[in-house]
Amino acid sequence: GGPNKPGKKLLGFKAVPTSTADEIVVPEGYTAQVLIPWGTPLHSRGPAFKKDASNTAADQERQIGSNHDGMHLFPLGKDSGLLTLNHEYVDTTGLYADGSEVITREKVNKALAAHGVSVVKVERDRRSGKWKNVDSRYNRRVTGSTPVTFSGPVTLKHDALKSNNAPQGTLNNCSSGFTPWGTYLACEENWNSYFGTEDASWAPDAEQKRYGLAAATAYRWHEADERFDLAKNPKELNRFGWVVEIDPFAPNSKPVKRTALGRFKHEGATVTESKGRVVVYSGDDQDGEYVYKFVGEGRWRDRIRRGQSPLDHGTLYVAKFTDDGRGAWLPLEFGKGALTAAGGWKDQADVLLRTRTAADAVGATKLDRPEWVAVHPGNKDVYLTLTNGAGNGGAVGPRKPNPYGHIVRWSEKNGDNTSLSFEWDIFVLSGDPAHDPAVKLGAEAIHGSPDGIGFDEDGRLWIQTDISNSSQNLPSKGYGNIGNNMLLASDPKTGEIKRFLVGPRGAEVTGLTFAADGRSLFVNIQHPGEATTAWGTPTVQNPRVVSNWPDFDPAGRPRSATVVITKDDGGKIGT
Ligand code: FEO
Ligand code: CA
Ligand code: CA
Ligand code: CA
Repeated sequence: GGPNKPGKKLLGFKAVPTSTADEIVVPEGYTAQVLIPWGTPLHSRGPAFKKDASNTAADQERQIGSNHDGMHLFPLGKDSGLLTLNHEYVDTTGLYADGSEVITREKVNKALAAHGVSVVKVERDRRSGKWKNVDSRYNRRVTGSTPVTFSGPVTLKHDALKSNNAPQGTLNNCSSGFTPWGTYLACEENWNSYFGTEDASWAPDAEQKRYGLAAATAYRWHEADERFDLAKNPKELNRFGWVVEIDPFAPNSKPVKRTALGRFKHEGATVTESKGRVVVYSGDDQDGEYVYKFVGEGRWRDRIRRGQSPLDHGTLYVAKFTDDGRGAWLPLEFGKGALTAAGGWKDQADVLLRTRTAADAVGATKLDRPEWVAVHPGNKDVYLTLTNGAGNGGAVGPRKPNPYGHIVRWSEKNGDNTSLSFEWDIFVLSGDPAHDPAVKLGAEAIHGSPDGIGFDEDGRLWIQTDISNSSQNLPSKGYGNIGNNMLLASDPKTGEIKRFLVGPRGAEVTGLTFAADGRSLFVNIQHPGEATTAWGTPTVQNPRVVSNWPDFDPAGRPRSATVVITKDDGGKIGT
C-alpha cells in the first residue's frame, strides 16, 4: 500500500474507449452492478417504486431520493457499511405522473421528499460477491422538510434567519464530504433556484442578486407553498447555502448547518487535517466564483472531547491565484482588511451570510466553475476541478472561453494544509485535441467538464465528468468524439490518465467512495436521459442523450442509481 509506491504501475487496467451507448462500460475483468435506484424502498416493507411516477409524497419520504450525487460509505466492517448519499434535485417532467404543468402542495411535498440525503446500510454477500441494501435502524432520509438546526457564528437567534416557519430541510445537495470524527457533510449548491414569487413588486436586493435569486423559477414551488415565496417569506432563503453536518450513526439526530464554513453555492466540503487541525476545502460552483478553505482553531480532537464542533471554531479563507504560479489564502474575518465597520460590515455573522460579497471585497480570484477538491493522501497536494467557464482569473484560467474545463493543483507551503500560501500548476487541460490543439490527451484519456474528483488510498486520482446534456455527443459543441460522461483514473506523479468507466446517455458520473478494503468502488449515475424521454415533454432537444437506464422499460422512467464496480479476480480497483 501507500501512495505511489516506487516501482509499481498505478493504473493496471486496460482503458475503455469512449461510448455513446445507453449502458455502463467498464474495463475487461471488471463488473458493474446497479444499486438503490431512485424510488427504492428504504426498508423492505416500505412502498414499492411505481414506474408511472404515481408514488405519493408520503411514499417518497420512505424511498431513496432522486439524482444521486456526492456519497460516502461509512464502514461497519469489510463487507458492510452505511452508504450515505446526496439527492441533488428533481426532474419535474419525470417526478410526476401528470407532469408539472399544474403545481400542487402534494407535488411540492413530493419534490421536497426526493431531495436531501439517504443513509442506507449495504452489505456484500460473501457467496455471490454482490452488494445489496438491507434493513437497518440506521436507514434514514433527510429531505427538504426535515427539522434542522444551525451552529457557528450564525444561529437561529440571528434576525436574518427569522423566517415564517420552523427551520427545516436541505436542498440541492451536490457534492459532500466526511469528517475524521465519522460524520457526513452535505453541501447546498443551487438553492436559489427553489425560490420565486408572483409578486410583481418584489425585486432582488444586491445580496440576493449576487446569489442569483429571481422572481421566475422553473420549480414554481412558491405557487403552492409560501415557504418558497420570496415576497411572502423573504428570510427563508438565508437558511440555505450552507454545509450541513449529518451523523449517520445517530438516526434521530438533527442535521446541523455549520455556518462558520460560509454561505455560497457549496459544491462540496473536502476535509483533511494538518497538525491536528481540521481543514475543509469548498468550491462555489458558478462561472467566475471562488474556492474557499476553512481552517479549524485548535486540535479537532480536543474540541470533540469538550463536546464542541471542530467546524464551529476557525477561520474561513478564500483563494487568490497569481500569474507567477503562486497563491495566497485571504481571511474572511470581520475587522480585517476590507471587512470592517467602516467598510459596511456588521460582524462575523454578516461576513458569513454574505460570503460572496466578502470574497469580492478582499480581492479573491475568479475561477471557471470550481467544483470538487481532492487532497493527495501522501504529499497533501490539493486538486480542484474547474469544470468549464469563461476563462477567468488570468493564468489559472488559460483557455478563454473554456468549454472543456481543467484541473488545477497546488502545494500548500511546507505541505501543511493550514498554510496561507501555495504554489500552483495546471494538472490537466481537459478536452479533445481535434478541437483544441493545446490539449495533450490521447484517445484513452480525452474527456470534458471534470467535476467529481477523489483519491483512493494508493494515490490514484479518480476523475468524473459532467458534460451538460446540451453539449453531450454534439460535434458542433466540440464534443463529437468524447461520448457519454465518464470516470477516469490518473497517476498524479506521471500525469497518465486512462478512461475506466463510461456512463449511460444523458447522465453525469458523480459521487465516489470505496469499500474499506479498496475492492469495491461505488459511483453514482445522475440524471440519465434528463428531461429528454418519451414520457415527458423534452426540454433538451438533443436525441443523443435519450436514455431509459437502468430498467429499459418503455413504460418506465430513467432512474439515477448507485453503481458498484468490482474486479472479477477480487483485486483492488484500478490495479
Ligand atoms: Fe451540482 Fe456543481 O454540480
Ligand atoms: Ca457537481
Ligand atoms: Ca457539474
Ligand atoms: Ca448534477
